[in-house]
Amino acid sequence: MKRRVAVYRTAHFNAAHRLNVPSWTDEKNREFFGLCNNEHYHGHNYDLHVRVEGEMDELTGYLIDLKVLKQYIEEEIIEKFDHKNLNLDTPDFKDLNPTAENIVWVIWQKLRLRLDPKFNLGVRLYETQRNFVEFNG
Ligand code: NI
Repeated sequence: MKRRVAVYRTAHFNAAHRLNVPSWTDEKNREFFGLCNNEHYHGHNYDLHVRVEGEMDELTGYLIDLKVLKQYIEEEIIEKFDHKNLNLDTPDFKDLNPTAENIVWVIWQKLRLRLDPKFNLGVRLYETQRNFVEFNG
C-alpha cells in the first residue's frame, strides 16, 4: 500500500522590515500600520515551518532526505534573509510590502522552484509566537 506522509523542517531567521504603502500619505501609513510603519525599521525573529507531503519511498522509507530539504531552506531563505533588512537588502521586497503574508508567499515560491514537483509544499511563518501565516500554493 502506498503511504502518503508529511515531513517538516523548521528554520529561523532574524530580519528587519518596515510596512508602508508608497502611494499613501505618511499620515495614512502611520495610522494603518502603526508601529510597523516606523521609518527606521524594526526587527522580528521569524520562525519558519516547511511542510513537504507526498508518497514515501517504500524501499528507503524516506519521503525526502531532510538533509536536502535543510539545504534548500538554507540556500534559498536563510542566506538571503537572515540579518537582512527585507526592504533594502532583498530584491524580493523592493516593490512588495514585507508583511508576513507576502514573506510567506515569497518563501513558498523560492522553495517550490527547488522542490521536486511530485511533492506538495506548505510554508508557515511565525512573525511572533502568537502571529503566524501559512501558504500552501
Ligand atoms: Ni513588523
